[in-house]
Amino acid sequence: MKYIFILFLGLVAISMTGPIDNDLNLKSTSETEPSEVIAKKVDSLLAIMTLEEKIGQMNQYNGFWNVTGPAPENGDAAKKYEHLKKGYVGSMLNVRGVKEVRAVQKIAVEETRLGIPLIIGFDAIHGYKTTSPIPLAESASWDMEAIRLAAEVTAKEAAASGINWTFAPMVDISRDARWGRVMEGGGEDPYLGSKIAEARVKGFQGDDLSNIYTIAACAKHFAGYGFAEAGRDYNTVDVGTSTLYNVILPPFKAAKEAGVRTFMNSFNDLNGIPATGDKFLQRDILKGEWGFTGFVVSDWGSMREMIPHGYAKDGKHAAELAAIAGSDMDMESYLYVEHLANLVREKKVDESLIDDSVRRILTLKYELGLFDDPYKYCDETREKEVINSKENHDAVLDVAKKSIVLLKNDNNMLPLKKSGQKIALIGALASDKNSPLGSWRIAADDNTAISVLEGMQAYKGNELTFAKGADVSVGKTQFVFETKINTTDRSGFDEAIEAAKKADKVVMVLGEVGFQSGEGRSRANLDLPGVQQDLLEAVHKVNPNIVLVLNNGRPLVLNWAHENIPAIVEGWHLGSQAGHAIAQVLYGDYNPSGKLPMSFPRSVGQVPIYYNHKNTGRPTIPAPNLVFWTHYIDEDNSPLYPFGHGLSYTNFKYEDLQVTNNYRVSGEVKVSVNLTNSGNVEGKEVVQLYTRDLFASVTRPVKELKGFELVSLKPGESKIIEFTLTQAELGFYNNKGEFVVERGEFEVFVGGSSATTNKNSFEL
Ligand code: BGC
Repeated sequence: MKYIFILFLGLVAISMTGPIDNDLNLKSTSETEPSEVIAKKVDSLLAIMTLEEKIGQMNQYNGFWNVTGPAPENGDAAKKYEHLKKGYVGSMLNVRGVKEVRAVQKIAVEETRLGIPLIIGFDAIHGYKTTSPIPLAESASWDMEAIRLAAEVTAKEAAASGINWTFAPMVDISRDARWGRVMEGGGEDPYLGSKIAEARVKGFQGDDLSNIYTIAACAKHFAGYGFAEAGRDYNTVDVGTSTLYNVILPPFKAAKEAGVRTFMNSFNDLNGIPATGDKFLQRDILKGEWGFTGFVVSDWGSMREMIPHGYAKDGKHAAELAAIAGSDMDMESYLYVEHLANLVREKKVDESLIDDSVRRILTLKYELGLFDDPYKYCDETREKEVINSKENHDAVLDVAKKSIVLLKNDNNMLPLKKSGQKIALIGALASDKNSPLGSWRIAADDNTAISVLEGMQAYKGNELTFAKGADVSVGKTQFVFETKINTTDRSGFDEAIEAAKKADKVVMVLGEVGFQSGEGRSRANLDLPGVQQDLLEAVHKVNPNIVLVLNNGRPLVLNWAHENIPAIVEGWHLGSQAGHAIAQVLYGDYNPSGKLPMSFPRSVGQVPIYYNHKNTGRPTIPAPNLVFWTHYIDEDNSPLYPFGHGLSYTNFKYEDLQVTNNYRVSGEVKVSVNLTNSGNVEGKEVVQLYTRDLFASVTRPVKELKGFELVSLKPGESKIIEFTLTQAELGFYNNKGEFVVERGEFEVFVGGSSATTNKNSFEL
């Protein structure tokens, strides 16, 4: 007893002077150390930790008081503060800014017995202060380097603000535009989603985690969250093995293979088990089969939510289930800190599981270099220099332009002429400087985006008139949303109609306000909210020469617009530089090349709608007037705009689709196509390759994306584009979760969207 007491005193003394005991040799150098060296240090540290201190590492608290102000004296905040000082907190989230982070870190490092630094997490989803397009928009670029770079900029700014861990990328595949969080992901396709997951992880983490400009990434939400029934956030997920293995899991696996250091589990229950308590997902698949060595954080309060789910009988039971299932860190349920030590003493949770979790958490802290210098992310000068730098704004402008999708452009309505034109710009979203920042952008300062109005004003050659027409709604903040959609106020219509009457061309910016998508923003209707459809029709009556620019966080239903409006531009929520990006596309200074990462339905009744559906036993009408085939009696089966769709100011011709089948010799099938820019301007095309496995032991989709390439061509220029298909592209997961490649006939399609009929075939 005496010995222990002395040892503790010694450690307190050490922790007052520096991060940790030098004699224990627990410091890490500025470059990430080899894993064996880190493992040794982690073991040495683990050996001197009490059970409570270990569990403390598994506890994450939200920033609970203004750290640089007075310490909390009463209530929950005071309790959390006590925990922090005792070393019972391993991580905090939503503490940001060098001053604040330094203050909490100082408590962890200087006031706790062991001085273990905190890892500071934050939702730096698409940018920090400088905001890049929402992830769904970025995904429309199909440009992995641009996506990587946007994540790098996010990491750089967040890291300069004291943060060393982002809760991104969200890699949930979703086929349901009603679900508000589609804005945060890569769309509906697992192949594209996997490439994006890899690019974003590499962008955040770089190739050296201890570098001060990189931060740890977090693949979320593991798993199935994007399949919430009826698109209602947090709702039940019930999917079969085939969908789980072939659609939901691949982007997570890709993130793991790209080296992502953390995963977040999810709110939903998956086939009856809340993901947070799902051992099969976390221990068997992620940490077992995939060999993931990082740690899993719960989603916000998701451990406690296992009680209303009907899976845990109380908080203690929830902690037990989560720990056994492999959830390493408790975000804001307070259950580990409250119950886990007792659960270990009662032998309900084995201490080796605690050790395993703590090992994973401490390992990341070493990898980040936090033991070497816990304040390495806390440098005011860097914070000032990096945040909102011109370089960062240039980078987000670049990716914003690349994210724009030209949905329709009849009679080359676009690009607009740069002079001699009267242009009426209509729509409240056109002058909105907040909405373009999108949802999930907590750090961005309100009203800092370049609006479309400002972007168009930068072009001086035309006469520009702006009329708001009608408000859309009042979106307040990320966390409080007034669902006050304007469904009545048409008082601005007359001004807009007058402006349109006098104009040669009308640009209308319509869609959703920034906070109309994102978490908790499921919609049962996907049309233009409020009176915007009426405004569009009223303006169209007096001047049909309309360019419709959409600002939105999800696919919308746009049938009337598609029938009546000659040009439609998908302008998403494009971040800080949105207005410049849109104006440059409208004026032809940037030739759009984006392609949709999600299908746009014709009506909500079609949702979930996705290109890689199964064929069914009754795919086509057997004879005229027969009804017994898979269809709607009041709507087409096809989407309005398919996955992969997007036009350019030039045209591309696909010819000579060739297949060289060497599968039985080299395990490869080569596919090539001759692509020509047959228009008058330089442009980029996303060449997309899809396969169809015609007969298999588990039915396969009618098309599956298995390759793509972004190609830039001058007018008249041609290029042979080649793809190589190997086992990875030709196989699938069977219902036992085994990856198999089966012999038989395949079709291969290469074209500019998932609707392409340009095909060839081969046999394995
Ligand atoms: C979200 C997560 C997020 C967490 C922390 C939750 O509501 O589902 O994606 O990272 O909050 O802010």
